[in-house]
Amino acid sequence: MEKGILENLYHVAIAVKDLSAVEEVYKTALGLRVEHREVVEDQGVNTSMLVPEDGGTAIELLEPMDENSPISKFLDKRGEGIHHICFKVDDIEAVLERLKKQGVRLIDESPRPGAYNSRVAFIHPKAMNGVLVELAEVNKAD
Ligand code: CO
Repeated sequence: MEKGILENLYHVAIAVKDLSAVEEVYKTALGLRVEHREVVEDQGVNTSMLVPEDGGTAIELLEPMDENSPISKFLDKRGEGIHHICFKVDDIEAVLERLKKQGVRLIDESPRPGAYNSRVAFIHPKAMNGVLVELAEVNKAD
């Protein structure tokens, strides 16, 4: 694959108030299963990744760890709902380089540690018509 190109839609992330309660809703209504739970201290969130039985795009639930979490602020302002979408990338540095060259406004100029042993970076929602877009390079050792 050409360097700096996005792969598939990896997950859609939803900000929630009560992770366990919402897990039950999504398991029951949509038949998803919990693949992985993780605390991401850096971002002040408890996360849960729910996937369809046969794999494919996941739903990532984000619950604030405390009131200082960016997710707390999001919930106060907008309530529960879609927080970001995430694309898988093979080479996050190459994607960020390309975006910088194009003058696309970024939240992260360089990758930071994400959940599930990934490296992630966010594109500013103002550059993406109001959608917060995450890029994730997954399952690679640092
Ligand atoms: Co995410």
